[in-house]
Amino acid sequence: MSGPAKTAALIPAAGLGTRLGQGPKAFLDLNGLTLLARSVTALAPHVDEVVVALPQGYALPENIRARAITGGATRQASVLALLRVTDAEVVLIHDAARPFLPPEVIAGVRRAAAETGAATAALSVADTLVRGQSQASPPLWGELTLREGLWAVQTPQGFRRELLLAAHLEAERDGIQATDDAGLVARLGLPVALVPGDARLFKVTTPGDLILARALAHLWDAEDAS
Ligand code: C5P
Repeated sequence: MSGPAKTAALIPAAGLGTRLGQGPKAFLDLNGLTLLARSVTALAPHVDEVVVALPQGYALPENIRARAITGGATRQASVLALLRVTDAEVVLIHDAARPFLPPEVIAGVRRAAAETGAATAALSVADTLVRGQSQASPPLWGELTLREGLWAVQTPQGFRRELLLAAHLEAERDGIQATDDAGLVARLGLPVALVPGDARLFKVTTPGDLILARALAHLWDAEDAS
């Protein structure tokens, strides 16, 4: 009889945080815990191992229980490096830049990945979307996209490791750079399930996001403690 599939959480955290300008984002503090510590703590109870990709020259702080490797020059290269150092059958990829990860989302992505082969957390779009005409400054209202049926893609994303590795190798061969992993699987014509994510799973990218994240950390931690 075979046991449950070995599952690894793979956390790309090797970005330099250029848009934020405060050093690698994963090491920024939110109410006493770094973004990275928050992601590792959320995922560890759900998986057999956690592996983190860090920027060159960085080590994992002692209080974070995970394995660390050096990431690559792009997010995609960091994820490929992570895929190569685990023998897990199922992988959950999660950006360290999304520190507030509810357990229900992890469970939902795992379940859908087991059923479909690939799954991602995603939020249905509430805002009207419009393409800015970038020649002008400020840009002018260009083509309108109806929001119905549109989803904003988040992480975690779950896959059979062999499937995601094949998608990465094919993307590398075709010279494709993507900002997430589910897109690499979808471009092979394979199904990817969209699992309801969470507004609190936003990606910390700009100084404004960091202000929101620091405010939310107090509420999140108070809820955790209650
Ligand atoms: O830059 P962005 O916020 O889109 O990055 C998403 C995630 O990918 C972050 O957690 C970041 O640390 C990670 N990343 C990486 N290796 C890179 C660039 C980004 O692991 N070279």
